[in-house]
Parts: sequence; C-alpha cells; structure tokens
Amino acid sequence: MSEYILSIDQGTTTTRAIIIDRQGNYINIASQKFEQHRPEPGWVEQDPIVIWQSVYKVIHEVMDHSGISFNQIKGLGITNQRETTIVWDRKTGQPIHNAIVWSSNQSLAIVNQLKEEKTEEYIHEKTGLVLSPYFSASKIRWILDHHPGSQKRAENGELAFGTVDSWLIWNLTNGKIHSTDHTNASRTMLFDIHTLKWDEHLLNLFRIPKSMLPKVYPSSYVYGLTNTDLFSEANIPISGVAGNQQAALFGQLAFQPGQVKSTYGQGTFIVMNTGSKPKFSKHKLLTTIGYSIDSKVTYALEGSALISGSAMEWLKDGLNLFDSMDDSELLAHEAKINSSVYVVPTFRGIGAPYWDSSARGAVLGIDESTSRKELVRATLESLAYQVSDIIELMELDTGIIVDLLHVDGGAAQNNLLIQFQADILGKTVRRIERLETTGLGAAYLAGLAVDYWRDQDELIALVTENEQFDPHMTDTERQQKLNGWRSAVKAILYYAK
Ligand code: G3P
Repeated sequence: MSEYILSIDQGTTTTRAIIIDRQGNYINIASQKFEQHRPEPGWVEQDPIVIWQSVYKVIHEVMDHSGISFNQIKGLGITNQRETTIVWDRKTGQPIHNAIVWSSNQSLAIVNQLKEEKTEEYIHEKTGLVLSPYFSASKIRWILDHHPGSQKRAENGELAFGTVDSWLIWNLTNGKIHSTDHTNASRTMLFDIHTLKWDEHLLNLFRIPKSMLPKVYPSSYVYGLTNTDLFSEANIPISGVAGNQQAALFGQLAFQPGQVKSTYGQGTFIVMNTGSKPKFSKHKLLTTIGYSIDSKVTYALEGSALISGSAMEWLKDGLNLFDSMDDSELLAHEAKINSSVYVVPTFRGIGAPYWDSSARGAVLGIDESTSRKELVRATLESLAYQVSDIIELMELDTGIIVDLLHVDGGAAQNNLLIQFQADILGKTVRRIERLETTGLGAAYLAGLAVDYWRDQDELIALVTENEQFDPHMTDTERQQKLNGWRSAVKAILYYAK
C-alpha cells in the first residue's frame, strides 16, 4: 500500500490541503477561500473557528477525491500565514476575539508607545525584527486590552496564545498539544532567536504572561498525533510545521547560504538563507529563523512588499479594470512600452528599509493617453521593483552577490511579470513548475521527521521542473526605470510625513 504526506497550507485568504508522494508529486489539491473582516479602516480580522473548519473541510475533500485512505498518510505538515494572532480559552477552546491578521494595523498605538520608550534596539537584537504592528506581540496586547478581565485570566493560566499553526495543532489534537515551531515563534516579537527561548524582558514589556505561550520545537519534529475522531480513526503524526515563507524557502530546496526565493502572494516575501548564524541587517531587513531540523537551526534574512497580489486584486475588484488575472497579463502586454507610469501600491504602509505604517499608495506619471493597460502594467511592474529593491539590500547586508532568484506563488504564473523581474534585476530568475512551494516545503519537513525521506540530499535528488528567465534589458534602460521607481517611492514617503 503506497504511503503519502498530507500538507496543510493555511494562507491569508485561502486554505489548501495537498497530498504529496515520495517523488514530491502533487497527487491532489483541495482549497477553500474564507471571509476576511475589516471592522475599521486598516484592521483585518478572521474567525478562528472558520479557519479551523476550512482546514477540516479541505483535508476531507482532498482525501475523498484522491481515493487514498487516512491510514496511508505517513505524516502531516502544517504551514501557515504567519504572525496572525489568536487568543483562546484553554478550557472551552473558544477564541476570546477574532484572529488579528498579520497585515492589520489595529495595534499601532501600542507600538508607537513602545517606540517612545526606546525599546527598538533591544527588540531587534533579540528577535531580529523591527518594532511594527505586523508581529504578534502588540496584537496579543491589543486583545488583552480590549476584553475586560482577560489580563487576569491570562495571568491565571486560563488563556492560550498561538499563531495559526498552534491553533491548528490544538484543534487537531483536541486541545492536548499547545506548541509552535521555531520559524513561527521567531515572528511573535517575544522569542530570542539566539537562545531559542521566550524572552522574559519582552514578555514584561508587553505584559504577556508566559503561561499563555506555546512550547517551541523544531520545524521537522513529531508534535503528536491527530485526534482519533477526526480522520476515520487514523492517528496521523503532525510532523512538520513552518511559517509559509520559510516553508517556501525549504520547498525551493534553498539549503545553501546565499540562496534566495521570492513568493508572490497577497504580499511578496523575499527570503535568503544565511546559514547557521543570524545575520543582522543595516537596512531594516528582518532576521528570522529559516527552518530547524533536530538541533540545527538555519537563519534567514527577509524583506517583503506587503502589498503586491492584493494590488492586482484592487485593480480587478476595486477598479473593475479586468475580469480575471489572466486578462491582466494580456492587458499589460498591450500597454505602451515606454510609458512613464508608476504605481506604488503601499496601501497600508511600507516595509524595509522604511517601515512607515503611515505611507499610502500613489499613481504617478499619467497623461491623457494613459489607459487601464498602462495602469495594469505599472502595477505588475511595481511587484518586481519592490523585489529588486529588497535583493539589493540583501546583497549590501551580506556581501553576497545573488546570481539566481527562485520564484513561486500565484502571481509567478504571469510570464510578463517574471520576465520583467529578470530584466529589472539583471539576474536570472528560475520559476519552479509547481508554484505551491509552501505546501511542498511543509510536506518535506513532515516527511523528514517520520523518515519518509532520509535526508535533505534525497529531497535535492527529486526531479523538479523549472523554467528559466534571463535578463534582456540594457543596463541604461534598467537604470532609467529604476530611477523613475525610486523617485515615485520618495514621493509617497514625502507625502506620508
Ligand atoms: O507574514 C505574512 C505571510 O505569512 C502571509 O503570507 O501568502 O498567506 O499572504 P500569505
């Protein structure tokens, strides 16, 4: 009887379940979109129960469609939208508030207060992060502040905090296991990435009782078994856990220091493997944990464009400029080649190296001949410019010259975008055939922990199809375009002040 790995990819807008075989082939995928709540401008929340139900549903769906029985699943991998914060009652398992999503700004006032208290340097040294509402700590504080009595309940050990991975492990084990992995812990702003322990000083700073926090284990590790009544009496080992951007790094098999991947989703996340020691950025890139296997931790540098795929969705659903993402590529092809239109899609602030939550987006350089085609093309190009800016910072911080960029994620299907990415970087871009590398990475981590695969060398030997895009743009043209983009970014920063 063949055996498989089941991978859960719980992303910001979509939950997926993927069955993967020993060769790394996708046997079947099921997915489900779920609702986002925006109670106030800049706030984003989700219902944690709906998240869990979506996971339960896609697992059953993918298994039903494939005809594979739960007994054939050797290990379960979980990868997730990171930083998104859930606080729940340990007795009832009920969340006390909606999940506060990573992109939500609702804890900005808490962060601004801490900025005044000059805590930024300590936070960066210990956690590798910059002080921003993006990470979990201020979101936990916000929840405790907005639910009367909850601070006391937290201090009494009645409440649990988790990122989405912890929440799913809790539900998959019927409340028996409250754990997370090193990659997710490294995004909470409470975790010392050197000692791999929760940091007492940061817990005091945010007034978060330690008893709320999950236990932290390696990304490739057997966390426990799924509860008997969930999956036809099968007890499946939960054996791999990683935040989605780190899982994509692993799925791209970027095991060597200096290897970089860019995942184009709602945001675009660029992560470079920096090896066994954390590297700190002079340009406000994040230092984070890439993955951990047994006692070996691999660190990474990360930069992101917080809005990218969601800018394309704004064109489609907000401005009704086209009906499907495929149309966007056609329209962009028809745009005037040398249009000087720039779109800077910083709808809810800008990340590295500026980290300005008050920055807002802009469209610049339009004239009366500008049509939706130029707008679409400029927005697509903005995805690539943002990646190119981050890679330049990574090169400056590490002294490593990147010669190849590995790409994946939904928008990476767009050939025009990926060719422009190669052109504007002046580097080769390699697109993996199976764009769901987050799910693949979680499956690899899960499979290694249960000896489904022997080691990382065995994963490298698996055949993966890639497509290569080489740069064709002249240096002069590249420089001109980059200058235009940089002026556009300066304009939005000026306006934000
Ligand atoms: O840090 C946020 C990131 O994990 C979100 O990823 O692809 O679910 O939008 P995605």
